[in-house]
Amino acid sequence: MQDKRTGLIHHPYTPPEGFAAPQPGVYKASTVFFPSVAAMRSREWKDKTGYTYGLHGTPTSYLLEERIATLEGGAQCLLVPSGLAAIATVALSLLKSGDEVLIPDNAYGPSKALANGELKDWGITHQCYDPMDPQDLARRIGPRTKLVWLEAAGSVTLEFPDLREQLRICRAAGVLCALDNTWGAGLAFNAFDLGAGPGVDISIHALTKYPSGGGDVLMGSIVTRDPQLHIRLKLTHMRLGLGVGMNDVEAVLRALPSLVLRYREHDRTARALARWCQDRPELAQVLHPVLPGSPGHAHWQALCGTEEGKAAGLFSVIFHERYSAAQVDAFCDALRLFKLGYSWGGPTSLVVPYELAGMRQGWPAHLARGTLVRFSTGLEAVEDLQADLAQALAALN
Ligand SMILES: Cc1ncc(COP(=O)(O)O)c(C=O)c1O
Repeated sequence: MQDKRTGLIHHPYTPPEGFAAPQPGVYKASTVFFPSVAAMRSREWKDKTGYTYGLHGTPTSYLLEERIATLEGGAQCLLVPSGLAAIATVALSLLKSGDEVLIPDNAYGPSKALANGELKDWGITHQCYDPMDPQDLARRIGPRTKLVWLEAAGSVTLEFPDLREQLRICRAAGVLCALDNTWGAGLAFNAFDLGAGPGVDISIHALTKYPSGGGDVLMGSIVTRDPQLHIRLKLTHMRLGLGVGMNDVEAVLRALPSLVLRYREHDRTARALARWCQDRPELAQVLHPVLPGSPGHAHWQALCGTEEGKAAGLFSVIFHERYSAAQVDAFCDALRLFKLGYSWGGPTSLVVPYELAGMRQGWPAHLARGTLVRFSTGLEAVEDLQADLAQALAALN
């Protein structure tokens, strides 16, 4: 198979007759014209052989869908206005009153909030399972379980689960599996082919992060390999009226050719800083799957290998309990290059302090006690970022 660096640049595209250029054209429309009433009546929006209405796609969005599906090793893709909209669309499409969904306890917070909010109101129950204990997942699967969410690595605490075993358990129970693949971005591992055992049924991806790469676009994708599952999701997508703007699609198309290089650079910087943090006396724990001793390191290594470009640019630290939450806030305030801001995958390094106690069912035994801070590495020089961390730690002391 072609290297993804090459594939993302030489992905098939037929430009208008007599015109070829590095970037594809940008086609915008709400209305699409039909040559006749007969054509209008016969046009089928569910496949990509034609166009019916802007909400169902233009040549520009079809192209991004193809490229994201290829990137992730899937066959079909739906674009939605955000990563969270991708999570919500999957839930609304596949769950009905009386069903249950299982969510890893370290899942992206708003995914849990959706389960505690609208899903609960609509009679859909959920349980959070221990992402580091596949048997806990197995025990919680029951006759009402219709969907299991997976996340690798988990949000904020970055534990890397035994994805293969989790999938094997779900497949044995006949339950659909959806992965939040934002961290892996289609580069750290292939969600649809994990090398041993089954792959996922659905991969959602916050294109907001690495594929956009600019910190200025919100978009999500839902990738599948099964055409019937895709159509089921697409019907919900259509009924909810979830369109994306073509200027945003263009921005992501423009950023995709540099995705592999950027992801590797984010990864390289995060590894270097996480290793540097390990020697700092202020910190009780550094969380990053590439670090031996970090929860799930062995699972990450078995699935992704160890080379750079196989992990996202995220790591978290837990300050020793002797530092109050207010002192840790002051440390974050003292950072100059790391900006206070949510999200990740853009050029600017970001930092967020988290109150872990309210985010988990209990304090996991594998996490040190103390205040947690998550860093997302941007594309700045690693030496400058390290100096920034050092000066903020010095200010803390
Ligand atoms: C793991 C994960 N999934 C999904 C999302 C949602 O993406 P968006 O911000 O595009 O809604 C985020 C955003 O931070 C995330 O971290």
